[in-house]
Parts: sequence; C-alpha cells; structure tokens
Amino acid sequence: MLYVCEEIIIFNSTTLILSYESLSGLKKINFVQQLQGNFMKEVLIKNIKELVQVEEQAKHVVAGSEMAKLPSIKSAFLLMKDGKIADFGEMKDCPDIGADSSSQTIDATGKMVFPSWCDSHTHIVYAGSREGEFVDRIKGMSYEDIAKKGGGILNSARRLQETSEDDLFEQALGRLKEVVSYGTGAIEIKSGYGLTFDAEVKMLKVIQRLKEVSPIKIRSTFLGAHAIPLKYKDDRQGYIDLIINEMLPFISSNELAEYCDVFCEEGFYTPKETEAILNASIDLGLIPKLHANQLTNSGAVQVGVAKGAISVDHLEFVEEAEINALLNSETMPTLLPSAAFFINLPFAPARKMIDAGLPVALATDYNPGSTPSGRFPFVISLACIKMKMTPEEAINAATINSAYAMELTGTHGSICKGKVANVFITKPISSLAFIPYSFGSDLIETIILNGEVYEA
Ligand code: NIG
Ligand code: FE
Repeated sequence: MLYVCEEIIIFNSTTLILSYESLSGLKKINFVQQLQGNFMKEVLIKNIKELVQVEEQAKHVVAGSEMAKLPSIKSAFLLMKDGKIADFGEMKDCPDIGADSSSQTIDATGKMVFPSWCDSHTHIVYAGSREGEFVDRIKGMSYEDIAKKGGGILNSARRLQETSEDDLFEQALGRLKEVVSYGTGAIEIKSGYGLTFDAEVKMLKVIQRLKEVSPIKIRSTFLGAHAIPLKYKDDRQGYIDLIINEMLPFISSNELAEYCDVFCEEGFYTPKETEAILNASIDLGLIPKLHANQLTNSGAVQVGVAKGAISVDHLEFVEEAEINALLNSETMPTLLPSAAFFINLPFAPARKMIDAGLPVALATDYNPGSTPSGRFPFVISLACIKMKMTPEEAINAATINSAYAMELTGTHGSICKGKVANVFITKPISSLAFIPYSFGSDLIETIILNGEVYEA
C-alpha cells in the first residue's frame, strides 16, 4: 500500500512509514510515485460480486436500445499483468498466481469492479474560482447576462493571463488527482481561458506537462474560440484570423493538441465562424469537437456533423432536425448534465435521443463557470434522475461511448483483454443501481491504474 504526504513519498508495505495523511485517514494518490517503484507485475482480484462492462471484443459505440445492455459477470475474477487486462471470467475458472513480491491478490467479496470512467470533456486548467458569479445567479442574473457584462469566460481569462505556468500546473494537477479519486481513468482537457496567443499556448503547455506525470491518459483540445476577447470586441474577425493564421499553425506544428473545439453559440461564435475555424483545424490535422446547443438551438450540431466532429457536447437545446443529423453521422452526442444542473438549464433530451437510436456519452465539463465539479458518479446520478437514463445506459455512456469521444475505445472504457488495466473496486454495495441511487456518496474503495493499486 502506498501512503503519501506532501513532502514524503513512501513505497509499499516493506518500507511503510505512516504519514500524517494516512493517520488522519486521508490517503492521497500521488503521481510522483511513478518515478520510482516496486510495482506489482501481476494483480488478481478474486471473489468479485459483479465485474461490470466486460467484452470479448472491443466495441466502439453502444447505441439506442443496446445502451440498456451492460454485460457483466457475477462471482468473477480479474487478472491484470504488466499494466494490461490479461484475463477475466467466473470464479470457478480463477487462476492461481504466485505469492512473490511482484504479485498481489485482492479479495473483493461483496464488492463490484468497473472499468474507470472516461471523461471526454473538461476544462481543468484554470486559475482561481468564480463563486461571485454563482451568487449573482442566485440573485437572478443569467449565465448569458454575466458573460455580456465581461464576466464568465472573460473573467477566467483575465485571471489565467496573470497566473504563471507553474501555478496553473499545480492547480490543474490538484484537480487531476481529485478526479482520479472519483474513478476517472482517461480525460480530455481543453484550453480556452487564455484567449491570447501566449496564454492559450501556456494552457496547452500545462496540459502537455500533465500528460508527462499523469498515470491516466490525457487528450488535449485547443479551444481558442471559447469567447471573443475584450480587445477584439469590435473586430471579431481579427481574433478569428489570429486563431486561424497564428494559433492553429503553431499548436499543430508543436503537437500541442489533438482536437479543436469552438463554443458555437449566440453571443459567442456563429455557425459560419465555427466552420471557418474547423476548416483550418482539419487542414492542420486537428479533429473537431464542439460546444453545441448549450444555450440555444444554434445550428452547431449540423456544423459539427458536417465537419466530422468526433463529438458535439452539451445539447440542452436539440430537436428532431438535430437528432436526425446525428443519426447519419459518426459524431458522438455528449451530454454534460452537471453543467445544466449548476446553471439551471433544461437537461438534454437523452431519452428522446436514445429512443431514436442514437448513442450518447456522458462527461463532467469540470470548469470554473458552469461546472465546478469533476465528480463523475454525480454525473451518472444526474443522468438517471434528471434525464431518465437507466443505470446501465448511464454506465455505457460513461465508459465505451465517452472513450469513443476521445478515440480511446481500443484501450479504455471496458474490461477487455489487452486494454489498459484501469479499473476501480467499490465498497461493498448491493447492486449496480446503488451507484447512481446513492448520489453524493463516495463508493470507490480501491483504484487500479495501469495495473498499479491505489487506495481511493
Ligand atoms: O462547457 N460553455 C462554454 N464553456 C464552458 C463554461 C465556461 C465558463 O463559464 O467558464 C461549458 O459550460
Ligand atoms: Fe465545456
């Protein structure tokens, strides 16, 4: 077991020294441990009450009525070797593994095992917080009113521009550790609070540094078109030209992002402007992803589909036409119910979408304005409670479909031989539905990333 405090890093039971955090019951996951090691090569979890989301062959998408099916094995084992899933099945077929120092057996009697969540939409690189706007909304202002007054994204941009890369890195690293403790095992992170060449690049460099230390896979998205900076208030095209002619070429040639996102919305970027930015990104090899139909039915879904976006995200305001456009596409509709919850928007019509045959993915949208939370189990509860998704549908949306939204279905999102060994073990729970039912509770007991065991 690994116990960590801010300054001291201590490895496994043979050299165990209890830090103040372990004594107070707070055992932190510290990524620095990866620099040294005494790692398990083989980890066997046995007597699993239920092993959830198992597949023989990796699926890339689960759509429509298939979303209600969540393959699982009761009374199961899971064997992980060298950071990958090596085998799984019923307990009657459980193998014996050696008892040397490179092997570990965990007894999961009464507990369930899940593949880690895949969080395909976050903004965890940001400076400070915006609870002042939260109070303004309580008193009656809307998200749009705040943005129009120069608050919102522009407020975060001002702070981020004044914050050093090192400080930003530390803040974002704290959030990354936090979401890992909630069960997230792969994540997408966006820029978009820089809004100048230097500040956008600073954000993307922070994401690059996070990639270097993170035990979980990180995908990086350039979101320079998140708002129109104040300086360009009367020259929108000037800023769009800066994105197209300077930011995108630099980001592409320095491999600072895999995706390009635009906040296509009234008061932000029009569908036409979005299309121009995406055309430039596609030419440079960055795949589109969009903030779409969050505040109005803006036309963003159709632009995303036409441009082959890997996902269109939010979708609070979609109707038949948008559902039909998505049905004939490879674009993953991604729903972010924590954002709708926090800023009091209608929830996306998940039921309509799934009943029409669409897949949907879920993600947190962790950001300082519309979703100051990266708690994935809460997203799953909201999906069930507010969008009438069944627990099985919500878990498909949080694993295979959200892995698709960052092109990770070959390695993440299910218990499948050869995939990365990123899973979590719950506390003893009565059933799968107990996860969304007990919203707000911490039900994860053990986290395994790349076959390494951490206490949550
Ligand atoms: O996904 N809507 C655009 N972007 C973020 C919120 C940004 C902010 O308010 O800081 C979102 O909700
Ligand atoms: Fe977002």
